[in-house]
Amino acid sequence: MSSSESVPKFPNQLIFLALLGILAASQPQTATGDPRAQTVNVTCGNQMEANPAIFVPNFVATMENISEQMRTSGFGVAVAGSGPDINYGLAQCYGDLSLLDCVLCYAEARTILPQCYPFNGGRIFLDGCFMRAENYSFYHEYKGPQDRAVCGNATSPIGNNNSSLFQDSVRRTLSQAVADAPASNGFSRGQLDIVGTNSSVFVLANCWRTLNSSDCRLCLENASDSMMGCLPRSEARALHTGCFMRYSDRDFLNSEVAGTGSSGGSQDVQKMVKTLNDSSLNFKYSTLEKATGCFDEANKLGQGGFGSVYKGVLADGREIAVKRLFFNNKHRIGDFFNEVNMISSVEHKNLVRLLGCSCSGPESLLVYEYLPNKSLDRFIFDVNKAKAMNWDRRYEVIVGTAEGLVYLHENSKIRIIHRDIKASNILLDSRLRAKIADFGLARSFQEDKSHISTAIAGTLGYMAPEYLAHGQLTEKADVYSFGVLLLEIVTGKQNNRSKNAEYTDSLVTWMWRQFQAGSVEEMYDPNLMLHNHHNSNARNDVLRVVHVALLCTQESPSLRPSMSKILQMLTTEEQLPSPTNPPFIDEKTMEIGNGCEDPRFPLNIGLSESVATVDNSSFHPR
Ligand SMILES: *[C@@H]1O[C@H](CO)[C@@H](O)[C@H](O)[C@H]1NC(C)=O
Ligand SMILES: *[C@@H]1O[C@H](CO)[C@@H](O)[C@H](O)[C@H]1NC(C)=O
Ligand SMILES: *[C@@H]1O[C@H](CO)[C@@H](O)[C@H](O)[C@H]1NC(C)=O
Ligand SMILES: *[C@@H]1O[C@H](CO)[C@@H](O)[C@H](O)[C@H]1NC(C)=O
Ligand SMILES: *[C@@H]1O[C@H](CO)[C@@H](O)[C@H](O)[C@H]1NC(C)=O
Ligand SMILES: *[C@@H]1O[C@H](CO)[C@@H](O)[C@H](O)[C@H]1NC(C)=O
Ligand SMILES: *[C@@H]1O[C@H](CO)[C@@H](O)[C@H](O)[C@H]1NC(C)=O
Ligand SMILES: *[C@@H]1O[C@H](CO)[C@@H](O)[C@H](O)[C@H]1NC(C)=O
Ligand SMILES: *[C@@H]1O[C@H](CO)[C@@H](O)[C@H](O)[C@H]1NC(C)=O
Ligand SMILES: *[C@@H]1O[C@H](CO)[C@@H](O)[C@H](O)[C@H]1NC(C)=O
Ligand SMILES: *[C@@H]1O[C@H](CO)[C@@H](O)[C@H](O)[C@H]1NC(C)=O
Ligand SMILES: *[C@@H]1O[C@H](CO)[C@@H](O)[C@H](O)[C@H]1NC(C)=O
Repeated sequence: MSSSESVPKFPNQLIFLALLGILAASQPQTATGDPRAQTVNVTCGNQMEANPAIFVPNFVATMENISEQMRTSGFGVAVAGSGPDINYGLAQCYGDLSLLDCVLCYAEARTILPQCYPFNGGRIFLDGCFMRAENYSFYHEYKGPQDRAVCGNATSPIGNNNSSLFQDSVRRTLSQAVADAPASNGFSRGQLDIVGTNSSVFVLANCWRTLNSSDCRLCLENASDSMMGCLPRSEARALHTGCFMRYSDRDFLNSEVAGTGSSGGSQDVQKMVKTLNDSSLNFKYSTLEKATGCFDEANKLGQGGFGSVYKGVLADGREIAVKRLFFNNKHRIGDFFNEVNMISSVEHKNLVRLLGCSCSGPESLLVYEYLPNKSLDRFIFDVNKAKAMNWDRRYEVIVGTAEGLVYLHENSKIRIIHRDIKASNILLDSRLRAKIADFGLARSFQEDKSHISTAIAGTLGYMAPEYLAHGQLTEKADVYSFGVLLLEIVTGKQNNRSKNAEYTDSLVTWMWRQFQAGSVEEMYDPNLMLHNHHNSNARNDVLRVVHVALLCTQESPSLRPSMSKILQMLTTEEQLPSPTNPPFIDEKTMEIGNGCEDPRFPLNIGLSESVATVDNSSFHPR
């Protein structure tokens, strides 16, 4: 069996650190390079693939083939298939990257380029590497209509004082690089210290290795000219068809030149890459495609803000949940790779485990443990299934969810604000214990508001007012959502204003009023089965949970307790403070939230904007 199919035993991060350790031992000077995996620009072609069933496997085969070459030489070309969906690929790391950094940069590039799908071609410039795929041979192209420079947005301080000094220095360094590169594998780096100042100019020039030296020179001359237009900006990059150039007043270059693959230590690098490959969290796209029956609708478990979730069964019979992410072109998933590393290292009994991902395929997939009893909303909001959840079980879910949130907010590794706590994100294991799903990734997606529009409609009732209106995000936003969740668990009612509900306002304000009036018990879900409960204290416990919920949903974030404080309040008998008002309570002064507008959009601020930013080029899985 392929090792990539096994459930990994080690957090990726640890493996990664261990591998860095191996590398450091053999190559102390080059261990701490920078892969410069930040995306500069992705440009997609304008022709659609002819047939996805042919295009996708060809594209994946090209990427895989190139991947092998990148590991040993920092460069790769590959062709797969025939006919209109034939796929030509090229990838190259710039000459100052070590092979390890090259592998990391390429991993990033091939995660992002599939955003271009269903267009059959595209190119991506990162700060450390380049990648392009088309359905024709483009290997000898060195210029094109898309060639351009991207100027930095700061002006050189030297330029300000004496503009010709900085500009002359940049010009000189660039022309030296253009002169040097064609004769040295298409790569050159330069540094010029500016006389009489404490500043220098740094330059990188790199042609794709498929160009001969005369075409390389033509490309660089043109690229260098494009960048001159950026002066006196302190930084510029040229994104040309056959080459990449950059100048900066900041030293962005890696100190050691990696060479062409025969450099010392590459044996260790290969060993390391192999270990990473063998024990990584990487699942093959084809493995997951097979496991889910090609993402059969029948296997679809649900739809979240970032993608659809499918049940899958691996060849050895193990069950998994596969989330198929949709990204669009504008979205920077630059952090995706790191996020998967990070999240997979976050382990707690009340958090759904991320088992791995597939980043090489035409779309990004996340693999989670599968939980047979699905999500809490399917129980507490369902007339029949609600009976399976008596008070004891619900209390266990409440405490488990609180413990999971304490861990997310307060663990020492990385502070995670969930942002989307709601009943459908609380999954239940075989014994109906709570596991929080979908945490962590929101960080990667925060730049792209268009995703939120899909998530938001079902989630508005849970969102803290300050987050909804001003995007002000702290742990207290999760605390608010958690409070809403508690009220739902106790009442079996959703926090929305459906026409038939016996409460006329939001569940939160309604419960607050009932609490003030001393009549919350009327709202309890009969399925709590309190009347014949073995523990006479159960009623007090329910009331305590409602009380805590109202502390969580106070309008002022600073008054809401922290999750660890909440956990303490839930599990001890300590005296609780009186809750102050939830949001939108004073109908005389509040225009918002008193019943006239669409209940799903009580505050239009921000939301209409995010809906409007959904563009046609969105990448949507078939
Ligand atoms: C990669 O593709 C080339 C042809 O483009 C082929 O010769 C080579 O065998 C392939 N390598 C792998 C590992 O598939
Ligand atoms: C590339 O794809 C387009 C659209 O599918 C097709 O019209 C064209 O003929 C293809 N080009 C080649 C060289 O196969
Ligand atoms: C990327 O470059 C293309 C032109 O090559 C341009 O149209 C597009 O706006 C750029 N995208 C970004 C995000 O800068
Ligand atoms: C200027 O560039 C920096 C870094 O590239 C970026 O963070 C910042 O938002 C930019 N500012 C403007 C006004 O574009
Ligand atoms: C440029 O001038 C500013 C004040 O106008 C000064 O603070 C700065 O140090 C100068 N920069 C150089 C490189 O001389
Ligand atoms: C500006 O720099 C040029 C050299 O590029 C030098 O000849 C000139 O004297 C400088 N002017 C000032 C005001 O520093
Ligand atoms: C020159 O730059 C270096 C590094 O940026 C800094 O440590 C040093 O203090 C600077 N010297 C002056 C005179 O500005
Ligand atoms: C370089 O390659 C181009 C296109 O492949 C070709 O037209 C040109 O003659 C070549 N130049 C030299 C000097 O080989
Ligand atoms: C790039 O080269 C083409 C011809 O090869 C020329 O027309 C164009 O002006 C050049 N662009 C720059 C910025 O030098
Ligand atoms: C990576 O793992 C795959 C199996 O998933 C294997 O086919 C391939 O040879 C491995 N590559 C390296 C460099 O170990
Ligand atoms: C929860 O899942 C387990 C294992 O699949 C199953 O035996 C049990 O009946 C489920 N519980 C409920 C209440 O559906
Ligand atoms: C409101 O909640 C009910 C169940 O309590 C649900 O059926 C309905 O779809 C919800 N309405 C909205 C707009 O979410």
